[in-house]
Order: sequence, then C-alpha cells, then structure tokens
Amino acid sequence: MDEIVLLVGGGGREHAIARALADADVTLYACASNRNPGIARLAAGFETLDETHPTAVVTYATEVDATMAVIGPEAPLESGVADALDEAGVYTFGPHESEARIETDKAFQRRFMAKHDVPGSPDFATFDDMDAACEYIDGYDGDLAVKPAGLTGGKGVRVTGDQITKAQAMDYLRESEYDRVVLEERLIGEEFTVQALVANGEIRVSPAVQDHKRAYEGGEGPNTGGMGSYSDAGELLPFMTDEDYADAVSIIEQVVENLKGYKGALYGQFMLTADGVSVVEFNARFGDPEAMNTLPVLETPFIDVLRAARDGEPLPELSFSQPATVCKYAVPAGYPTDPSGGTKVAIDEDSAGDALLFYASVDERDDGVYTTTSRSFAVVGRADSIDAAEGIAEEALSEAGTEGLHVRHDIGTAELVQRRVDHVEELRE
Ligand code: AMP
Ligand code: GLY
Repeated sequence: MDEIVLLVGGGGREHAIARALADADVTLYACASNRNPGIARLAAGFETLDETHPTAVVTYATEVDATMAVIGPEAPLESGVADALDEAGVYTFGPHESEARIETDKAFQRRFMAKHDVPGSPDFATFDDMDAACEYIDGYDGDLAVKPAGLTGGKGVRVTGDQITKAQAMDYLRESEYDRVVLEERLIGEEFTVQALVANGEIRVSPAVQDHKRAYEGGEGPNTGGMGSYSDAGELLPFMTDEDYADAVSIIEQVVENLKGYKGALYGQFMLTADGVSVVEFNARFGDPEAMNTLPVLETPFIDVLRAARDGEPLPELSFSQPATVCKYAVPAGYPTDPSGGTKVAIDEDSAGDALLFYASVDERDDGVYTTTSRSFAVVGRADSIDAAEGIAEEALSEAGTEGLHVRHDIGTAELVQRRVDHVEELRE
C-alpha cells in the first residue's frame, strides 16, 4: 500500500526529509507556517498553517487521509503535535511532548542524565531566580555556559570566557525575561553531532557531522541555528577516533534506554574535550543543517524506517553511501540579531549543478519567493573529500546567487578543518 505521509515543518531540514521520501511509494503532504517552494514541489498538497497548533495539524492530516506523519522542528513537538496526531490515529515519527523535554527543557535534560548516570554531563545548577543565578556566576571558579532552560532556536546560550565576560553574563540574565536558567561548566573542545533514528527501543545511528553555530567566519559573532556543516566519507570526522564515536553512540543508547517510548530522530550534540566525550545537549529531532548532510547519503529508504517504526518491526540497518558532504546556508543580512526579512530573492533550484539546493525559511507567494527573518536556503556538495565537497558547494552558491544574503564561506575549507584537527591534537597532548 502506498503511504500518505504528512510532513510538518517548512525549513531546510524538512526539504531534506521531503527529498528522502520522494521517489518512494509515498504520497507526500506538507504543512508549515511558511510555504517552502522545494517541499511544495515534491508534495501533492501544501497547507500553510500554524504548525505548532495541534488541532490545525490534525485537521489537515485527517483531510488528506495521512497514514503517518513526520515532524521536523522542535516547536510542534513541544506543543504536543505528535501526541495529538497519535491520538487521532496518525502514527507520528517524533516524540510526545513529555519525551521531547530532553530538548525543550534543558534543566530536565541535565537532571535526567544525573538520575540515570548517563556519562558526559558537565557540572550544572538550575535557577528560577535570576538574582541567585547572578550570585552563582559571580562566585563560580571558572567559566560557565549560561543556558535558558526553554527553547530559543539555538540562540539563547552565552558562554563566559568565550563570547562574553561574567559581568556581561549577569547583565544578560538581569535584562532577560527568562524564568529558568541552567548554569554549567564550560566545556572546551570540538563539537560534533550524532543523529539516531529511534523507535520501539531500537536505535540506528548515522555518521558524525560538525555544525557551525556562530554567525561569522572564524567562529565569531552570535550563536545561530547553525550556518553550515560537514561530514566526512565514513562515520567519523577528521578529528575523531572510533572510540569517540562509540562513546557518543553509547551515550545516546543510555538515553533511549531510560526515555521509554521515545520515537523519532534523536540528536546528540557532543563536545570532544581533553577528558573525552561530553554532552552539550540533546535535540528531539534531526539537526538543521545536519539533516541535509545525512539524509542525502542515506541509501536505505527512509520510508522503510518509518514503516518499521510504526508497525513495531525491527528497524532496518541503515546504509550510507560514503561521500563527504559540505552544507552552507545563505541567511538574510543581519541574521540572527537583526535580520532583514521580506526581501524577494531569485533562487534557481536547478542551477545547483552537482550540488543539492534546499530551500529553508523562505515563503513562496504569488509573485515570487521572499526571505523571512530566518535562514533562507542551503547548498550541499558531495564528493570523495571534504575539500572537494566544499568546492562544489561554493560553485553552487555562486550559481544560485546570494545577493543580499550572508554565507560563511569558511565552512568545510581545508584550512578550517585542519584547525579542528590541530585543536583536538593539542587537547589530547
Ligand atoms: P545549545 O543550545 O545547548 O546547543 O547551545 C548552543 C551552543 O552553545 C553549543 O553549540 C555550544 O557551542 C555552546 N555551549 C552549550 N553548552 C556549552 C558548554 N557547557 N560549554 C561550552 N559551550 C557550550
Ligand atoms: N544544528 C543545530 C540544531 O539543529 O539545533
């Protein structure tokens, strides 16, 4: 039987999910608050709606007779869209609100790790009184990561000794409207992501990816949702060992063991430190941009994973073709602090050459495609080496056109990757 799949979300990650489901025996429908032209072209129907509104999503799912759903972003998970769809009889690959807390509540996440002895957590403390939090910062011996407990689109964390001073961190909290904050030991090292597909207590993992959170080249500027990412041929990154990867996978396994009933993608963000692998955070979904590195090289039909998950059958083993990938985002000028949305852009999906082009938070209207205040589109190069994939991504960017948009051209360059390798070598000395 053909599956009728409803995809929730309209970003680059969701365009990658849509592509992974195209060409299979799937009829795809999609809904999101922005009309993503790439997804719309692959879908039999696209409804513009508030994707965090459970009733709106369930109504559309019922209307199109969806046999299952996939949720891309975190906001609908937090608002219980997976719970509502499952309740309406539409199996949903995405965790319920209570399991999504592993991402949506950073205080819960750290307490969960402590309670279940999951290794890799930095020392932490949680506060709901910002004055008390400031006092803690003032008296703490060392640098700290200051993390609002709730969702901030990856933009809420501030790290002392890196981005800001302790005095600035205290001002940041006093001026904020955060009602709960986690303060934790600053981890120093190289970050990497491992994404797993999880259902019925089973786990299938994908190759490691490195995202670039900072807005500007050289790792300067504010944190963003992610400016681009790379993966190598094989499951490791050039600065990792097999043991590092195995440690990360083992941490994900221990989370899933204790987070009963979890289904969906589970994303572990790790820091490779002098003392081994630590956990920066978990996300209850694919990464964005990381999904654009991983799904295009997944050879196992994604629909087979979803079907097995729904039907309670063993998940298929995943096979990945082995090219290195480099993903680069083009974002509105001023993103993330003062983005200039609402600009008409001419992006030519077919101009990407050997690369893939993914539309992200743009909105297709009658007279063209407009930017929003979030990331606009991404290109992904695939080749035998990271360096060659980077070249392909750059070519595609110049073909597609990035006028009025900002790109981190350093992502995936041989020079930047070498710096990561040197950094880890120094840490391991
Ligand atoms: P998160 O929203 O938890 O992904 O945090 C955003 C970014 O803040 C991460 O990708 C890291 O670069 C940084 N970060 C978060 N926690 C820590 C930590 N404990 N030590 C150092 N950097 C951190
Ligand atoms: N790449 C970071 C995220 O998806 O949260």
